[in-house]
Amino acid sequence: TTEEMERRVKEIKEKFGTKLYIPGHHYQKDEVVQFSDVTGDSLQLAQAAALNKEAEYIVFCGVHFMAETADMLTSENQKVILPDMRAGCSMADMADIDQTDRAWEKLQMIFGDTILPLTYVNSTAAIKAFVGKNGGATVTSSNAKKMLEWAFTQKQRILFLPDQHLGRNTAYDLGVPLDKMAIWNPITNELEYEGNHVEEIVVILWKGHCSVHENFTVKNIEHIRKTEPDMNIIVHPECSREVVGLSDYAGSTKYIIDMIEAAEPGTKWAIGTEMNLVNRLIQNHSDKKIVSLNPFMCPCLTMNRIDLPHLLWALEGLEKGEISNQIVVPEQITKDAVLALDRMLANV
Ligand code: 13P
Ligand code: SF4
Repeated sequence: TTEEMERRVKEIKEKFGTKLYIPGHHYQKDEVVQFSDVTGDSLQLAQAAALNKEAEYIVFCGVHFMAETADMLTSENQKVILPDMRAGCSMADMADIDQTDRAWEKLQMIFGDTILPLTYVNSTAAIKAFVGKNGGATVTSSNAKKMLEWAFTQKQRILFLPDQHLGRNTAYDLGVPLDKMAIWNPITNELEYEGNHVEEIVVILWKGHCSVHENFTVKNIEHIRKTEPDMNIIVHPECSREVVGLSDYAGSTKYIIDMIEAAEPGTKWAIGTEMNLVNRLIQNHSDKKIVSLNPFMCPCLTMNRIDLPHLLWALEGLEKGEISNQIVVPEQITKDAVLALDRMLANV
């Protein structure tokens, strides 16, 4: 039963004490988040992993790329475990390293040595290593603006992987016009752009996206504007430019939480982000009217792979001294990727 599973998780947590650390992303299910030692967005969890020197086992409740990051930012004797190996991220999977190497070669031919790569943390360790080796940095949705500003102090052009929307929204916020942005299509290995001169392009957006946030549409916004004209619309920057442009506010997971917490009682909010977080905000703020911007609620299916039974399975393994689902990033990849992660952590 659920009660029995919860009791066992508590028991094992108590047994291990500070030797066990359970970070949980805001998009995780409540049944898991209740046992997290720290909850946060991608940036907060990366920082928390880097700071934890005590835990021997880090049971990461989030998706694969986050567990990889935790492994790279912790020391060798700390073991990172992902309770379900199927908890991947479709966006991270949209940029593989072979495609990236091919793209880089061609981009160097077009633009010479004028490009700096940046990657959203929602990417594989191999992509982070590629970026680190080439002088670039990782970014999260909380610091993308700051990091893009930094990147332009280094080089005249940016290649932004793998989320075209976060890249476009951030560059647009910084005043880069849309016609100075192009899309890199990893399938055709071609640059896609409108306008006359390729030399004018300053931001190259990898053609990737989040399959959860793409479900928030202009139609959803038009519907809210018509039916609830006094409702505030707040979305994550993984939504498209059109959606972000028509919303009242856009920002990272942490930004959304902070805005809702600071909002006056009685205010109304339509939120465009992952379902578990929206539901938690609805539960915790009964004094405000909160709905999902898309009435069909948008779950991240891979985040949801981590549930109470999988968490318990991972913990019972540790109890028996068996380590399954350990995430180990190879040493050379770690070395290069940490360069990219450190450039971010030093800037925020
Ligand atoms: P943040 O935690 O950076 O807001 O990212 C959202 C997300 O999609 C995580 O996978
Ligand atoms: Fe990946 Fe989107 Fe899920 Fe985040 S919400 S883990 S970006 S698929």
